[in-house]
Amino acid sequence: MTSAIDNSSLLEAEAWQLLEKSIIYYQGKPIGTVAAHDPESSESDALNYDQCFLRDFVPSALVFLMDGKAEIVRNFLIETLKLQSHDKQMDCFEPGAGLMPASFKVHSNGNEEFLVADFGEQAIARVPPVDSCMWWIILLRAYEKATGDLDLARQPDFQAGIKLILDLCLVHRFSLYPTMLVPDGSFMIDRRMGVYEHPLEIQVLFYASLRAASELLLLDADGESYLGRVNRRLGALKYHIRNYYWLDLKRLGEIYRYKGNEFGKEIANKFNIQSESIPTWLTEWLPESGGYLAGNLGPGRMDFRFFTLGNLMSIIASLASEAESQRIMNLFAQRWQDLIGSMPVKICFPAMDGLEWKIVTGCDSKNSPWSYHNGGNWPVLLWFFTAAALKTNRTELAQAAIAIAERRLFKDKFPEYYDGNNGRLIGKEARICQTWSIAGFLAAKQLVANPEYLELISFPEGLEGPGCSI
Ligand code: GLC
Repeated sequence: MTSAIDNSSLLEAEAWQLLEKSIIYYQGKPIGTVAAHDPESSESDALNYDQCFLRDFVPSALVFLMDGKAEIVRNFLIETLKLQSHDKQMDCFEPGAGLMPASFKVHSNGNEEFLVADFGEQAIARVPPVDSCMWWIILLRAYEKATGDLDLARQPDFQAGIKLILDLCLVHRFSLYPTMLVPDGSFMIDRRMGVYEHPLEIQVLFYASLRAASELLLLDADGESYLGRVNRRLGALKYHIRNYYWLDLKRLGEIYRYKGNEFGKEIANKFNIQSESIPTWLTEWLPESGGYLAGNLGPGRMDFRFFTLGNLMSIIASLASEAESQRIMNLFAQRWQDLIGSMPVKICFPAMDGLEWKIVTGCDSKNSPWSYHNGGNWPVLLWFFTAAALKTNRTELAQAAIAIAERRLFKDKFPEYYDGNNGRLIGKEARICQTWSIAGFLAAKQLVANPEYLELISFPEGLEGPGCSI
């Protein structure tokens, strides 16, 4: 027993060393972590993995905060705020005001260092990082919770930054729904995967970032009116997601018997979902006591795929109700091989293949069936799983998943992702020493050892009310 514990802490020390190696310094100060520090890939192979991605830094930041190393997180928040876009759209690749970059890198000119940010204008396929500004606000709240430093977020530039993000996110365009309309690949899944329109992953981060903003906004001159808008949107968003995205056997039965082409206000099939669009795998796969939030919902389209980040984050942020959260964890417990398998956790289930894969991904060979974003297993998702398991008092599930990860991650040198139906193979094009795989593992271990850290990232049931009926 003692030796098992010793071994586990030795492994943790090794992971810590790797995490420290990934730190980026700017003007002598730590400000972030590189996406990967793969000793096997050359500089030209690095693509943009030598940059600090905002979303990838989140688990690193949580680990640093849990370990009392708040300075790097503070520096990160300050420097990324300076990078926030203030320019109106100039040409087709200029970011809109309020957007936060996907990633940044330190460049130097002689002795002078400066940061260069990528808002997606250099990224593969030119995808906009819609999630970056949401993670930034969520992280600012986590920093406040961990350090008790309320002054940082109260500074005028931080308040202005939060409001600029809200202006961007709350703007009224053509969408009729309280959910946010985004293009394909605007978050962790940053390639074409049919996750355009109203993907769950963005809606959950949107909800969590509005919750965080409502805690961080000062009630100064216009603060109150921002808060009013935030609370109204929170209510409507929660109502919409809980009512229309939720799927369990009862709901599936209703959709199966839906009538099509209904017109008017009081109709059951508001989005005109055709029962023929229910995939055949789903009726057998959905367990009696399980349920989940659908991947997407738009006119005539419900994406029935299970997306892990969105479902786990909906538990963590209390966007899912307590009963729904238990049902999502039941689904994991009963479909363990599919969703956890040999490496926690599968990014989405099931994979697309054949003609569907061709049409939806545009024949993307990196996203071939059961690889990468198309049904690969991503170790970074372990921290989300652990946090969700703790929040629902299902600690045993977190422990079981961590034990699986621990058996392979060190031996395999922390790959970015795994391939195969159950995640048995190291991903075909996966980097090794991927920072968020390392940090995700450490965060999961820390969370289980100190469940009070859950508070950094979780939200209690919101008081925003049931929201307006749409
Ligand atoms: C890939 C992933 C993205 C991640 C980036 C850096 O592009 O899809 O989610 O942020 O690599 O690790």
